[in-house]
Amino acid sequence: MKTVLVTGGAGFIGCNFVKLMLAHHPSYRIINVDALTYAGNLENLKEITDKGRYVFIKADIRDKEKMDEIFKTYEITSVVNFAAESHVDRSIEEPEIFLLTNVIGTQVLLDVAKKHWKAHPNDKYCKTYKPGVKFLQVSTDEVYGALGETGLFVETMPLMPNSPYSASKASADMVVRAYHETFGMPVNITRCSNNYGPFQFPEKLIPLMINNCLEEKELPVYGDGMQVRDWLHVTDHCSAIDTVLHKGVDGEVYNIGGNNEKANIEIVKLIIKTLGKSEDLIKYVKDRPGHDKRYAIDNTKITTQLDWEPSYTFEQGMKETIEWYLNHPDWIEHIILGDYVKYYQKMYH
Ligand code: NAD
Ligand code: DAU
Repeated sequence: MKTVLVTGGAGFIGCNFVKLMLAHHPSYRIINVDALTYAGNLENLKEITDKGRYVFIKADIRDKEKMDEIFKTYEITSVVNFAAESHVDRSIEEPEIFLLTNVIGTQVLLDVAKKHWKAHPNDKYCKTYKPGVKFLQVSTDEVYGALGETGLFVETMPLMPNSPYSASKASADMVVRAYHETFGMPVNITRCSNNYGPFQFPEKLIPLMINNCLEEKELPVYGDGMQVRDWLHVTDHCSAIDTVLHKGVDGEVYNIGGNNEKANIEIVKLIIKTLGKSEDLIKYVKDRPGHDKRYAIDNTKITTQLDWEPSYTFEQGMKETIEWYLNHPDWIEHIILGDYVKYYQKMYH
Protein backbone atom coordinates (compact mmCIF):
# COMPACT_ATOMS: atom_id res chain seq x y z
CA MET A 1 0.00 0.00 0.00
CA LYS A 2 1.23 3.51 -0.77
CA THR A 3 1.16 5.76 2.27
CA VAL A 4 1.47 9.45 1.47
CA LEU A 5 2.44 11.87 4.22
CA VAL A 6 0.79 15.20 3.41
CA THR A 7 2.02 18.05 5.59
CA GLY A 8 -0.09 21.20 5.98
CA GLY A 9 -3.17 19.27 4.86
CA ALA A 10 -5.51 21.42 6.99
CA GLY A 11 -4.61 24.54 5.00
CA PHE A 12 -6.05 25.79 1.74
CA ILE A 13 -4.20 23.78 -0.92
CA GLY A 14 -3.40 20.87 1.37
CA CYS A 15 -7.05 20.15 2.21
CA ASN A 16 -8.00 20.18 -1.46
CA PHE A 17 -5.06 17.85 -2.18
CA VAL A 18 -5.96 15.35 0.57
CA LYS A 19 -9.51 15.08 -0.81
CA LEU A 20 -8.30 14.75 -4.41
CA MET A 21 -5.86 11.98 -3.47
CA LEU A 22 -8.46 10.00 -1.51
CA ALA A 23 -10.82 10.24 -4.50
CA HIS A 24 -8.25 9.48 -7.23
CA HIS A 25 -6.30 6.70 -5.50
CA PRO A 26 -8.66 4.26 -3.73
CA SER A 27 -5.79 2.07 -2.50
CA TYR A 28 -3.70 4.87 -0.94
CA ARG A 29 -3.56 5.83 2.70
CA ILE A 30 -3.13 9.54 3.50
CA ILE A 31 -1.48 10.71 6.72
CA ASN A 32 -2.14 14.41 7.22
CA VAL A 33 0.28 16.16 9.61
CA ASP A 34 -0.59 19.74 10.45
CA ALA A 35 0.32 22.00 13.39
CA LEU A 36 -3.04 23.83 13.08
CA THR A 37 -1.64 27.36 13.02
CA TYR A 38 -4.07 30.22 12.34
CA ALA A 39 -4.22 28.91 8.72
CA GLY A 40 -4.97 25.29 9.56
CA ASN A 41 -8.64 24.45 9.93
CA LEU A 42 -10.13 21.01 10.55
CA GLU A 43 -13.45 22.24 9.17
CA ASN A 44 -11.75 22.08 5.75
CA LEU A 45 -11.61 18.29 6.09
CA LYS A 46 -14.90 17.44 7.73
CA GLU A 47 -16.47 16.00 4.56
CA ILE A 48 -13.91 13.15 4.59
CA THR A 49 -15.75 10.01 5.60
CA ASP A 50 -13.23 7.30 4.64
CA LYS A 51 -11.56 7.19 8.05
CA GLY A 52 -9.86 3.86 7.31
CA ARG A 53 -7.58 5.41 4.69
CA TYR A 54 -7.18 8.83 6.29
CA VAL A 55 -5.37 9.76 9.50
CA PHE A 56 -4.97 13.27 10.93
CA ILE A 57 -2.09 14.00 13.31
CA LYS A 58 -1.62 17.38 14.95
CA ALA A 59 2.14 17.92 14.92
CA ASP A 60 4.83 20.39 13.92
CA ILE A 61 7.08 19.39 11.03
CA ARG A 62 10.04 20.76 13.02
CA ASP A 63 9.49 18.08 15.70
CA LYS A 64 12.03 15.48 14.58
CA GLU A 65 11.10 12.82 17.13
CA LYS A 66 7.44 13.02 16.21
CA MET A 67 8.18 12.91 12.47
CA ASP A 68 10.41 9.87 13.07
CA GLU A 69 7.64 8.12 14.99
CA ILE A 70 5.15 8.86 12.18
CA PHE A 71 7.47 7.45 9.51
CA LYS A 72 8.00 4.32 11.61
CA THR A 73 4.35 3.77 12.54
CA TYR A 74 2.86 4.34 9.11
CA GLU A 75 5.68 3.22 6.79
CA ILE A 76 5.50 6.41 4.76
CA THR A 77 6.30 5.96 1.04
CA SER A 78 5.97 9.58 -0.20
CA VAL A 79 5.96 13.04 1.31
CA VAL A 80 4.13 16.02 -0.17
CA ASN A 81 5.28 19.02 1.84
CA PHE A 82 2.72 21.84 1.85
CA ALA A 83 3.27 22.89 5.49
CA ALA A 84 4.46 26.47 5.51
CA GLU A 85 3.85 30.02 6.54
CA SER A 86 2.37 31.21 3.25
CA HIS A 87 1.35 34.88 3.42
CA VAL A 88 3.74 37.55 2.09
CA ASP A 89 2.27 40.39 4.19
CA ARG A 90 2.76 38.39 7.41
CA SER A 91 6.37 37.65 6.40
CA ILE A 92 7.01 41.39 6.22
CA GLU A 93 5.69 41.80 9.79
CA GLU A 94 7.31 38.69 11.34
CA PRO A 95 9.94 37.01 9.15
CA GLU A 96 11.39 34.63 11.76
CA ILE A 97 8.64 32.03 11.82
CA PHE A 98 8.88 31.84 8.01
CA LEU A 99 12.52 30.78 8.23
CA LEU A 100 11.83 28.35 11.05
CA THR A 101 8.86 26.57 9.48
CA ASN A 102 9.66 26.82 5.80
CA VAL A 103 13.41 26.10 5.93
CA ILE A 104 14.10 24.16 9.13
CA GLY A 105 10.80 22.27 8.92
CA THR A 106 11.64 21.12 5.39
CA GLN A 107 15.15 20.06 6.43
CA VAL A 108 13.79 18.03 9.36
CA LEU A 109 11.38 16.19 7.06
CA LEU A 110 14.13 15.51 4.52
CA ASP A 111 16.40 14.11 7.22
CA VAL A 112 13.77 11.81 8.65
CA ALA A 113 12.75 10.63 5.18
CA LYS A 114 16.41 9.93 4.32
CA LYS A 115 16.82 7.83 7.45
CA HIS A 116 13.74 5.72 6.72
CA TRP A 117 14.10 5.43 2.95
CA LYS A 118 17.81 4.83 2.38
CA ALA A 119 18.76 1.22 1.67
CA HIS A 120 21.75 1.59 4.06
CA PRO A 121 20.99 4.58 6.31
CA ASN A 122 24.38 4.61 8.06
CA ASP A 123 26.42 4.55 4.86
CA LYS A 124 26.98 8.16 3.83
CA TYR A 125 27.94 7.04 0.30
CA CYS A 126 24.76 5.02 -0.22
CA LYS A 127 22.52 6.59 -2.84
CA THR A 128 20.12 3.66 -3.12
CA TYR A 129 16.61 4.18 -1.79
CA LYS A 130 13.63 1.90 -1.23
CA PRO A 131 11.69 1.52 -4.50
CA GLY A 132 8.96 4.07 -5.23
CA VAL A 133 9.76 6.60 -2.48
CA LYS A 134 9.58 10.31 -3.27
CA PHE A 135 9.83 13.68 -1.49
CA LEU A 136 7.79 16.36 -3.24
CA GLN A 137 8.40 19.95 -2.14
CA VAL A 138 5.53 22.30 -2.90
CA SER A 139 7.21 25.56 -3.81
CA THR A 140 6.13 28.75 -5.49
CA ASP A 141 6.81 30.90 -8.55
CA GLU A 142 7.74 33.73 -6.16
CA VAL A 143 11.22 32.19 -5.75
CA TYR A 144 12.12 33.54 -9.22
CA GLY A 145 11.50 37.15 -8.14
CA ALA A 146 9.58 39.59 -10.31
CA LEU A 147 9.18 39.98 -14.08
CA GLY A 148 8.93 43.18 -16.10
CA GLU A 149 6.27 43.76 -18.76
CA THR A 150 7.32 40.68 -20.75
CA GLY A 151 8.88 37.24 -20.26
CA LEU A 152 7.93 34.11 -18.33
CA PHE A 153 9.46 32.14 -15.45
CA VAL A 154 11.28 29.00 -16.62
CA GLU A 155 12.69 26.31 -14.35
CA THR A 156 16.32 27.09 -15.21
CA MET A 157 16.18 30.74 -14.11
CA PRO A 158 18.25 31.85 -11.12
CA LEU A 159 16.28 32.31 -7.89
CA MET A 160 15.85 35.99 -6.96
CA PRO A 161 13.30 36.09 -4.12
CA ASN A 162 12.23 39.51 -2.85
CA SER A 163 10.16 38.95 0.30
CA PRO A 164 11.06 37.09 3.50
CA TYR A 165 8.37 34.55 2.49
CA SER A 166 9.81 33.91 -0.97
CA ALA A 167 13.37 33.92 0.41
CA SER A 168 12.37 31.18 2.86
CA LYS A 169 10.74 29.13 0.08
CA ALA A 170 13.80 29.58 -2.16
CA SER A 171 16.04 28.47 0.72
CA ALA A 172 13.92 25.36 1.21
CA ASP A 173 14.22 24.60 -2.52
CA MET A 174 18.00 24.80 -2.20
CA VAL A 175 17.99 22.38 0.73
CA VAL A 176 15.78 19.92 -1.18
CA ARG A 177 18.13 20.16 -4.16
CA ALA A 178 21.12 19.53 -1.88
CA TYR A 179 19.53 16.33 -0.49
CA HIS A 180 19.17 15.10 -4.06
CA GLU A 181 22.70 16.05 -5.14
CA THR A 182 24.51 14.92 -1.98
CA PHE A 183 22.43 12.00 -0.76
CA GLY A 184 20.74 10.91 -3.99
CA MET A 185 17.29 11.37 -2.46
CA PRO A 186 14.43 11.03 -4.99
CA VAL A 187 12.87 14.51 -4.92
CA ASN A 188 10.79 16.85 -7.03
CA ILE A 189 10.11 20.53 -6.58
CA THR A 190 6.97 22.15 -7.98
CA ARG A 191 6.68 25.93 -8.42
CA CYS A 192 3.12 27.06 -8.86
CA SER A 193 1.53 30.43 -9.52
CA ASN A 194 -1.27 32.03 -7.45
CA ASN A 195 -4.05 29.64 -6.48
CA TYR A 196 -7.72 30.44 -5.89
CA GLY A 197 -10.70 28.28 -4.99
CA PRO A 198 -12.64 26.92 -2.00
CA PHE A 199 -11.23 27.00 1.56
CA GLN A 200 -8.71 29.83 0.95
CA PHE A 201 -8.11 31.88 4.09
CA PRO A 202 -9.48 35.43 3.68
CA GLU A 203 -6.09 37.11 4.10
CA LYS A 204 -5.31 36.41 0.41
CA LEU A 205 -6.54 38.72 -2.35
CA ILE A 206 -9.55 36.84 -3.77
CA PRO A 207 -11.28 35.60 -0.57
CA LEU A 208 -10.48 38.89 1.21
CA MET A 209 -12.17 40.89 -1.57
CA ILE A 210 -15.16 38.51 -1.69
CA ASN A 211 -15.62 38.71 2.06
CA ASN A 212 -15.25 42.50 2.20
CA CYS A 213 -17.70 42.91 -0.70
CA LEU A 214 -20.25 40.74 1.09
CA GLU A 215 -19.82 42.90 4.20
CA GLU A 216 -19.88 46.13 2.11
CA LYS A 217 -16.43 46.98 3.50
CA GLU A 218 -13.67 48.90 1.68
CA LEU A 219 -11.61 46.87 -0.80
CA PRO A 220 -7.93 47.66 -0.05
CA VAL A 221 -6.00 47.64 -3.35
CA TYR A 222 -2.23 47.98 -2.89
CA GLY A 223 -0.52 50.73 -4.93
CA ASP A 224 -2.07 51.23 -8.35
CA GLY A 225 -3.55 47.71 -8.53
CA MET A 226 -1.63 47.00 -11.74
CA GLN A 227 0.51 44.16 -10.37
CA VAL A 228 -0.01 40.99 -12.37
CA ARG A 229 -0.41 37.42 -11.10
CA ASP A 230 -0.97 34.18 -13.06
CA TRP A 231 -4.05 32.56 -11.47
CA LEU A 232 -4.70 28.81 -11.29
CA HIS A 233 -7.65 26.97 -9.74
CA VAL A 234 -6.53 24.99 -6.69
CA THR A 235 -7.92 21.72 -8.15
CA ASP A 236 -5.61 22.14 -11.15
CA HIS A 237 -2.63 22.74 -8.83
CA CYS A 238 -3.53 19.56 -6.92
CA SER A 239 -3.86 17.47 -10.10
CA ALA A 240 -0.46 18.79 -11.25
CA ILE A 241 1.14 17.72 -7.95
CA ASP A 242 -0.48 14.29 -8.28
CA THR A 243 1.01 14.07 -11.79
CA VAL A 244 4.52 15.06 -10.64
CA LEU A 245 4.31 12.64 -7.70
CA HIS A 246 3.70 9.75 -10.09
CA LYS A 247 5.50 10.79 -13.28
CA GLY A 248 8.09 13.38 -12.25
CA VAL A 249 11.71 12.54 -13.04
CA ASP A 250 13.85 12.40 -9.87
CA GLY A 251 15.64 15.65 -9.10
CA GLU A 252 13.56 17.74 -11.52
CA VAL A 253 11.76 21.02 -10.92
CA TYR A 254 8.35 21.60 -12.56
CA ASN A 255 6.63 24.96 -12.97
CA ILE A 256 2.82 24.88 -12.70
CA GLY A 257 0.65 27.65 -14.11
CA GLY A 258 -2.50 28.35 -16.04
CA ASN A 259 -1.42 30.91 -18.69
CA ASN A 260 -3.86 33.23 -17.03
CA GLU A 261 -2.36 36.62 -16.21
CA LYS A 262 -4.57 39.23 -14.59
CA ALA A 263 -3.91 42.60 -12.97
CA ASN A 264 -5.15 42.78 -9.37
CA ILE A 265 -7.61 45.55 -10.18
CA GLU A 266 -9.25 43.39 -12.89
CA ILE A 267 -9.87 40.66 -10.30
CA VAL A 268 -11.30 43.13 -7.79
CA LYS A 269 -13.64 44.58 -10.43
CA LEU A 270 -14.74 41.09 -11.51
CA ILE A 271 -15.67 40.21 -7.91
CA ILE A 272 -17.55 43.51 -7.48
CA LYS A 273 -19.50 42.93 -10.70
CA THR A 274 -20.33 39.28 -9.92
CA LEU A 275 -21.63 40.23 -6.47
CA GLY A 276 -23.55 43.24 -7.82
CA LYS A 277 -21.69 45.77 -5.65
CA SER A 278 -20.32 49.26 -6.37
CA GLU A 279 -16.79 50.12 -7.47
CA ASP A 280 -16.96 52.92 -4.87
CA LEU A 281 -15.90 50.24 -2.39
CA ILE A 282 -12.40 50.23 -3.93
CA LYS A 283 -9.80 51.99 -1.78
CA TYR A 284 -6.26 52.40 -3.10
CA VAL A 285 -3.94 51.99 -0.11
CA LYS A 286 -0.19 52.18 0.50
CA ASP A 287 1.73 49.63 -1.54
CA ARG A 288 3.21 46.42 -0.08
CA PRO A 289 6.96 46.95 0.56
CA GLY A 290 9.02 45.14 -2.08
CA HIS A 291 5.85 44.39 -4.04
CA ASP A 292 6.63 42.11 -7.02
CA LYS A 293 5.25 43.69 -10.20
CA ARG A 294 4.50 40.65 -12.29
CA TYR A 295 4.58 36.84 -12.13
CA ALA A 296 3.96 34.62 -15.16
CA ILE A 297 4.70 30.94 -15.62
CA ASP A 298 6.01 29.03 -18.60
CA ASN A 299 4.45 25.59 -18.02
CA THR A 300 5.85 23.95 -21.19
CA LYS A 301 7.88 21.39 -19.22
CA ILE A 302 5.00 19.88 -17.25
CA THR A 303 2.54 20.01 -20.17
CA THR A 304 4.89 18.44 -22.74
CA GLN A 305 6.90 16.04 -20.56
CA LEU A 306 4.25 14.90 -18.06
CA ASP A 307 1.10 15.50 -20.10
CA TRP A 308 -0.63 17.70 -17.53
CA GLU A 309 -3.13 20.43 -18.51
CA PRO A 310 -5.24 22.77 -16.38
CA SER A 311 -8.94 21.98 -16.65
CA TYR A 312 -10.58 25.18 -15.37
CA THR A 313 -11.12 28.36 -17.33
CA PHE A 314 -10.71 31.43 -15.11
CA GLU A 315 -14.32 32.45 -15.74
CA GLN A 316 -15.70 29.07 -14.61
CA GLY A 317 -13.26 28.82 -11.69
CA MET A 318 -14.10 32.29 -10.38
CA LYS A 319 -17.85 31.74 -10.79
CA GLU A 320 -17.67 28.51 -8.74
CA THR A 321 -15.33 30.07 -6.17
CA ILE A 322 -17.59 33.06 -5.54
CA GLU A 323 -20.59 30.71 -5.30
CA TRP A 324 -18.66 28.54 -2.81
CA TYR A 325 -18.05 31.52 -0.51
CA LEU A 326 -21.70 32.58 -0.84
CA ASN A 327 -22.79 29.06 0.10
CA HIS A 328 -20.44 28.73 3.08
CA PRO A 329 -21.16 31.72 5.34
CA ASP A 330 -20.49 29.59 8.45
CA TRP A 331 -17.00 28.71 7.29
CA ILE A 332 -16.09 32.39 6.86
CA GLU A 333 -17.87 33.38 10.06
CA HIS A 334 -15.88 30.88 12.14
CA ILE A 335 -12.64 32.35 10.80
CA ILE A 336 -13.71 35.92 11.30
CA LEU A 337 -14.71 35.19 14.89
CA GLY A 338 -11.11 34.13 15.66
CA ASP A 339 -7.94 36.24 15.55
CA TYR A 340 -8.82 37.49 12.08
CA VAL A 341 -10.31 40.75 13.33
CA LYS A 342 -7.09 41.59 15.19
CA TYR A 343 -5.04 40.69 12.11
CA TYR A 344 -7.22 42.84 9.86
CA GLN A 345 -7.01 45.84 12.15
CA LYS A 346 -3.23 45.57 12.40
CA MET A 347 -2.67 45.28 8.66
CA TYR A 348 -5.28 47.64 7.21
CA HIS A 349 -5.70 50.50 9.71
P1 NAD B 1 -1.96 27.84 4.06
O1 NAD B 1 -1.32 28.95 4.82
O2 NAD B 1 -3.42 27.91 3.71
O3 NAD B 1 -1.74 26.45 4.82
C1 NAD B 1 -0.54 26.12 5.44
C2 NAD B 1 -0.80 24.93 6.36
O4 NAD B 1 0.45 24.55 6.97
C3 NAD B 1 -1.76 25.25 7.51
O5 NAD B 1 -2.71 24.23 7.64
C4 NAD B 1 -0.87 25.31 8.74
O6 NAD B 1 -1.52 24.93 9.95
C5 NAD B 1 0.23 24.33 8.36
N1 NAD B 1 1.49 24.58 9.06
C6 NAD B 1 2.13 25.77 9.22
N2 NAD B 1 3.27 25.59 9.95
C7 NAD B 1 3.35 24.28 10.22
C8 NAD B 1 4.29 23.47 10.91
N3 NAD B 1 5.39 24.01 11.47
N4 NAD B 1 4.07 22.14 11.01
C9 NAD B 1 2.97 21.58 10.46
N5 NAD B 1 2.04 22.29 9.80
C10 NAD B 1 2.23 23.62 9.68
O7 NAD B 1 -1.08 27.69 2.74
P2 NAD B 1 -1.51 27.30 1.25
O8 NAD B 1 -1.92 28.52 0.53
O9 NAD B 1 -2.40 26.13 1.30
O10 NAD B 1 -0.08 26.88 0.67
C11 NAD B 1 0.40 25.55 0.86
C12 NAD B 1 1.78 25.44 0.23
O11 NAD B 1 1.73 25.78 -1.14
C13 NAD B 1 2.82 26.38 0.87
O12 NAD B 1 4.03 25.68 0.97
C14 NAD B 1 2.92 27.53 -0.13
O13 NAD B 1 4.21 28.09 -0.10
C15 NAD B 1 2.67 26.81 -1.44
N6 NAD B 1 2.07 27.61 -2.52
C16 NAD B 1 0.94 28.34 -2.28
C17 NAD B 1 0.35 29.05 -3.35
C18 NAD B 1 -0.91 29.85 -3.15
O14 NAD B 1 -1.33 30.56 -4.07
N7 NAD B 1 -1.59 29.77 -2.02
C19 NAD B 1 0.93 29.01 -4.62
C20 NAD B 1 2.10 28.26 -4.81
C21 NAD B 1 2.65 27.55 -3.76
O1 DAU C 1 2.59 33.22 -6.59
C1 DAU C 1 2.33 32.24 -5.63
C2 DAU C 1 2.09 32.89 -4.29
O2 DAU C 1 0.80 33.51 -4.37
C3 DAU C 1 2.14 31.91 -3.13
O3 DAU C 1 3.45 31.40 -3.01
C4 DAU C 1 1.74 32.60 -1.81
O4 DAU C 1 1.68 31.64 -0.76
C5 DAU C 1 0.38 33.23 -2.01
O5 DAU C 1 0.04 33.94 -0.83
C6 DAU C 1 0.37 34.17 -3.21
O6 DAU C 1 1.20 35.34 -2.96
P1 DAU C 1 0.73 36.82 -3.39
O7 DAU C 1 1.44 37.80 -2.57
O8 DAU C 1 0.77 36.97 -4.89
O9 DAU C 1 -0.85 36.69 -3.00
P2 DAU C 1 -1.83 37.69 -2.23
O10 DAU C 1 -3.19 37.08 -2.31
O11 DAU C 1 -1.33 38.09 -0.90
O12 DAU C 1 -1.80 38.98 -3.16
C7 DAU C 1 -2.11 38.90 -4.54
C8 DAU C 1 -1.92 40.28 -5.12
O13 DAU C 1 -2.92 41.16 -4.60
C9 DAU C 1 -0.58 40.93 -4.75
O14 DAU C 1 -0.11 41.69 -5.85
C10 DAU C 1 -0.92 41.86 -3.59
C11 DAU C 1 -2.36 42.29 -3.90
N1 DAU C 1 -3.21 42.56 -2.71
C12 DAU C 1 -3.32 41.60 -1.76
C13 DAU C 1 -4.09 41.80 -0.63
C14 DAU C 1 -4.19 40.74 0.43
C15 DAU C 1 -3.92 43.75 -2.61
O15 DAU C 1 -3.84 44.62 -3.51
N2 DAU C 1 -4.68 43.95 -1.50
C16 DAU C 1 -4.80 43.04 -0.50
O16 DAU C 1 -5.50 43.30 0.51
